[in-house]
Amino acid sequence: MTIISNNMSKAVKILNNEDIVAIPTETIYGLAGNIYSDKAIRKIFEVKQRPLFNPLIVHLHSVEQLDEIVSEFPPKAKLLADAFWPGSLTLVLKKKSTIPDVITAGKETVAVRIPNHPVALALLKELSFPLAAPSANPFNRISPTKALHVESYFKNAIQMVLEGGECKNGLESTIIGFANNEPILYRLGAISIEEIENVVGKINVKNKKEKTPNAPGMLAKHYAPKTKTYLVNNIDKFITDYEDSTIGLLSFSEVITASNIKHIEILSKSGDLKEAASNLYSSLHLLDSLHLDMIVAQRFPDIGLGKSINDRLERATK
Ligand code: TXA
Ligand code: MG
Repeated sequence: MTIISNNMSKAVKILNNEDIVAIPTETIYGLAGNIYSDKAIRKIFEVKQRPLFNPLIVHLHSVEQLDEIVSEFPPKAKLLADAFWPGSLTLVLKKKSTIPDVITAGKETVAVRIPNHPVALALLKELSFPLAAPSANPFNRISPTKALHVESYFKNAIQMVLEGGECKNGLESTIIGFANNEPILYRLGAISIEEIENVVGKINVKNKKEKTPNAPGMLAKHYAPKTKTYLVNNIDKFITDYEDSTIGLLSFSEVITASNIKHIEILSKSGDLKEAASNLYSSLHLLDSLHLDMIVAQRFPDIGLGKSINDRLERATK
């Protein structure tokens, strides 16, 4: 049985024993293990049913630990780290040869971040090794923002979910890589492009739905509910077109009523994109549990975190 508990010393014991624990971060819950334990890392891939070509993010508690992990730290990476760590930014940097290939899927680079969650930071400080942690969801499913989401996904496959409350940001970290020391956006996320560009100027964006994306995990279909999901510009038209279907509606801020709308989730009554982002996945989890014919989401404004939300919804609707 998977237990949900805030017993930190139990989590430490399990991790020291080369097993894995689901941990809270400010973005989403992660499935964590010792980066140097082949046993723990293989279990992460197995439990998630994640393909081995998809590398993991290494989680640290301080910038000082970076020396152990990376061999280069470009000036603009340092600027971004100073601005956003601890926080929802992952940097992809040249790795030290001591980092196991299974973490990086054989790449010369490694993804690192310092999470901004008191429980995650306290845990990392108790350990003598960094933690690799992908999102604590089975491959291609909606990311978890509550301990209960993780428990219902993995049931008996993991011993423990370390309780840390609901994830504040609710979207995965923004991933930035480098080419010739210049930043490139690999994944839209909890920190907007605008915030990044305020620190390092204009950046290159490579977040396309490519066959071979820079971040191997950014496949076109991802983050998907079991219920057929649509992302639409004109909600009213869609609702009339599908009048015989039962619909779960994901709305930004508007209340919309119609006889075929069986449930509505409003992500932010005040129209705040940050609040909407933080509620996105838990609303999708809820809508997906209602066994309706379809989930329909309204396209978000294409600015700030609206871009990140649209990105996830597009991948959920493939
Ligand atoms: O917010 C987050 O980033 C959460 C929390 C738990 O930290 N983690 C997360 O991990 O979203 P995951 O494994 O679900 O997504 C990591 C992404 C994948 O798309 C992977 O391909 C990419 O990071 N990635 C990891 N290492 C990489 C590398 N060396 N080069 C390019 N992309 C990399
Ligand atoms: Mg993931």
